[in-house]
Amino acid sequence: MTERETWASRVGFVLAAVGSAVGLGNIWQFPFKTGQFGGASFLVVYLAAAVGIGLPAMLAEFAVGRRAKRNTIDAFGALGGRQWKVVGALGLGIGFWILSYYSVVGGWVIRYLVASPTGTYFGDAAGYFSAVSAGTDALVAHAVFMALVVGVVALGVENGIERATKVMVPSVLLILAGLAAFAFTLDGAGAGYAYFLSPDLSALRTNLWDIVPFAVGQAFFSLSLGMGAMVTYASYVDGEDSLVADAGSIVVLNTFVGVLAGLAVFPLLFAQGIDPNTSGPGAVFVSTAGAFAALPAGRLLGTLFFAVVLIAALSSAISLLEVVVSYVVDNTGVGRLPAAGTIGGALFLLGVPSALSTAWLGWFDTLAYKLLLPLSVLAILLFVGWVLGREALSEVVHGSDLGRRFGAVWLWTVRVVVFAAVLGTLALGLQTLFVGGAIVPPV
Ligand code: TRP
Repeated sequence: MTERETWASRVGFVLAAVGSAVGLGNIWQFPFKTGQFGGASFLVVYLAAAVGIGLPAMLAEFAVGRRAKRNTIDAFGALGGRQWKVVGALGLGIGFWILSYYSVVGGWVIRYLVASPTGTYFGDAAGYFSAVSAGTDALVAHAVFMALVVGVVALGVENGIERATKVMVPSVLLILAGLAAFAFTLDGAGAGYAYFLSPDLSALRTNLWDIVPFAVGQAFFSLSLGMGAMVTYASYVDGEDSLVADAGSIVVLNTFVGVLAGLAVFPLLFAQGIDPNTSGPGAVFVSTAGAFAALPAGRLLGTLFFAVVLIAALSSAISLLEVVVSYVVDNTGVGRLPAAGTIGGALFLLGVPSALSTAWLGWFDTLAYKLLLPLSVLAILLFVGWVLGREALSEVVHGSDLGRRFGAVWLWTVRVVVFAAVLGTLALGLQTLFVGGAIVPPV
């Protein structure tokens, strides 16, 4: 077996992890839900979820990855014994599931990016969405997106993922900041800020039982937890640096990008009098496309905006594919390129239903959000909190000067607070799935 790859630098690891975290979740889901769920007051709930629940959970995944230095399945096996491999396998399977439809949405973004310089969607934003979102067009774009992801992963950890994300993450920050600054100059931008950020406690109060599980679920999805992505990335860490500091930077940057996206999108929408309607997977595409159509520099703005979304989506998809490729490369003689290619092909096939109908895409997503993701996080927490226990504690504080007292607080947070929050989220998710009937596939 050839020697296992590692990151060339600490910054490379952090940026790759930020690249994984910053994705469609931040730019589509996050700002729109914030606006809908009470603006600044939702932001507080989300921050509490990200810092109080997401951060400790991320440290749990980092501890497993850096300690074992293996792919996510073998990492759980090596640290806890063969039977725990199932936890890693669960995460890997869910990553596979999510990437299948994530790539379909990535394909839509490619279509919007390509159409922006010529303003193809300007005449009929809703019609354009129905034309590209399902059917043969969507299938082709899904294949193109997947091929791009396979390309980067095939190049390797240092030469592919690290090099690519080192350029991608700063570009996302820069372009989004530029768009937000431009949006600030528009007449009527104020209404956008008001929608996004004014604290609306009544929205929070009336929807509390939707909002809390959403905030927790969103924190997991957005921070790329629950499917071995962070285990895998941490397994390439060679240094002795503070995992706590790294996880902290990742959480901060991830939230920052979500807020920045909101500061760019809502002034654009409100300046054009467009209602940020959030129902259905396509609504956000349609409303932003409508805003670009109405702006003088719409072609340029649209191109920049969809470029950001595409870059963010790609760097997240890369991390999901890497989880599976890492397992195959660690365990077989198969090289990176054929492994990535074959897995990419299989993912393409699993994504076919989602590419053919947005109802299927929604079903895949709902199941992932409400059932699979919390289930997998729960299994990881159980393992790290109670099986690995003090060994995980040592790994978390190793390289940081926070000491074992901090480690003990972390361990008990994982065992009790995070565990209870995820259990509650899962219970509420299951209720809507089974009682609400969402478990039934849309055939
Ligand atoms: N975090 C990404 C987003 O916000 C999606 C993602 C990438 C993800 N890798 C993941 C979600 C692993 C869960 C697990 O769009």
